[in-house]
Amino acid sequence: MRLLLIGDVVGKPGRQIIIQALPGLRSQERLDLVAVNAENVAGGSGITPEIYYDLINAGVDCITLGDHAFRRREIFSILQSQRNIVRPANYPQEAPGKGFTVVTARNRVAVGVFCAQGRVFMSPVDCPFQAAERVLAAMPGNVRVMLMDFHAEATSDKQLMGRVLDGRVTAVLGTHTHVPTADEQILPGGTAFQCDVGMTGPHESILGRRIDRVMETTRTFRPTQFEVASGDVRIHGTIVDADPETGKATAIQRLVVDEARARQLAALAAAERGESGG
Ligand SMILES: [Fe+2]
Ligand SMILES: [Fe+2]
Repeated sequence: MRLLLIGDVVGKPGRQIIIQALPGLRSQERLDLVAVNAENVAGGSGITPEIYYDLINAGVDCITLGDHAFRRREIFSILQSQRNIVRPANYPQEAPGKGFTVVTARNRVAVGVFCAQGRVFMSPVDCPFQAAERVLAAMPGNVRVMLMDFHAEATSDKQLMGRVLDGRVTAVLGTHTHVPTADEQILPGGTAFQCDVGMTGPHESILGRRIDRVMETTRTFRPTQFEVASGDVRIHGTIVDADPETGKATAIQRLVVDEARARQLAALAAAERGESGG
């Protein structure tokens, strides 16, 4: 079976390319499960109920979050009521939402999904390694395939998480830095690993925000609005092939969908729906 984690979706450009490309991508790549880190999806920070439904209707199976999870309070009711969205597992028990979930992939296989937040250059949270252990202890016994999104800054912490969970989860894939890393690999125990799958949104930017705004504030300390940028929109993510019987990963591959490929995928999906071109 094939799992895809799409990295931090930034603002409207990120949402739009997902909605445009995902149906075609699902069929072309034969994806059984699509998870999306959506912590930046509402104007660059947080997520709203409307956007949650837009992503689910576009074919997203599960949403993970990170340090911007709670920026928009409107999402709290969705976090409480819906099974297919998780916040970091190392948040307080009293925090809205849940630390892990089990979703059913398109091939009917149950997939455990969870995320955790790092502690380097980020606000203080409980130990992500202990949180991962708690999640594994609580995961139903029939769940063999598990995907972890480790939302963290430090590559060393991400590598450690991969080693701690090697052989016990199908994939440990990183998010948060918005920059993909070239270290995708299958660890010795059979866990697919990559420090960061990258960002989905405008790449003519600083991590998705307007270059001129970030430049001015960084160089002069004059505060500006870090508006979401617009140029060179791409999906970045990583596809993992897995054996549903054992939960072990068999292959890992980085994915980039640029605007040209997104248009081709939209045409493919339209053709599959039986619509004529034009
Ligand atoms: Fe992010
Ligand atoms: Fe983040």
